[in-house]
Amino acid sequence: MQKVVTENAAQTEAFAAQFAKGLQGPVVVAFFGGLGAGKTAFTRGLAKGLGITADVSSPTFALVHEYRGEKTLYHFDMYRVETWEDLYATGFFDDYETGGILACEWSENIEAALPENTIRVTIERGAHDTQRIITIEGEGAYENYGD
Ligand SMILES: Nc1ncnc2c1ncn2[C@@H]1O[C@H](COP(=O)(O)OP(=O)(O)O)[C@@H](O)[C@H]1O
Ligand SMILES: [Mg+2]
Repeated sequence: MQKVVTENAAQTEAFAAQFAKGLQGPVVVAFFGGLGAGKTAFTRGLAKGLGITADVSSPTFALVHEYRGEKTLYHFDMYRVETWEDLYATGFFDDYETGGILACEWSENIEAALPENTIRVTIERGAHDTQRIITIEGEGAYENYGD
């Protein structure tokens, strides 16, 4: 387990960008944390770290955005995913099969479907407005983190 405290969104992005460099697909980066926690901000950092220059926005309506970089990043919003059928329809399993990096907001909703090597990223609010406490757990995190 790894705990990181960030003082603003830029720090979260910078940490995530560094973190991304150690990721080996296929892997799910599963976010836990409510609205405004910083899940999209963290994913923006992942994209940057993978050399993706496209703007990363919340995939609320599309459910998934795909970004091609050094590795392909799939950014999911599982907020409306309630059943296995819903999850299949997002392409989650197919995208995993391709060896991609799957960043999943609202992973609370797909807990039962998370692969064993999932990296769990829990984002909580800290002592002040722009502070966040980021907890990273998962076997994959130990194997893959860092350069
Ligand atoms: N330390 C921080 N890390 C990430 N985001 C932060 C931080 N401090 C403030 N913020 C702000 O919180 C909001 C997080 O938004 P977003 O990433 O869209 O959250 P989520 O996807 O979890 O709903 C942004 O407005 C961001 O600027
Ligand atoms: Mg979001």
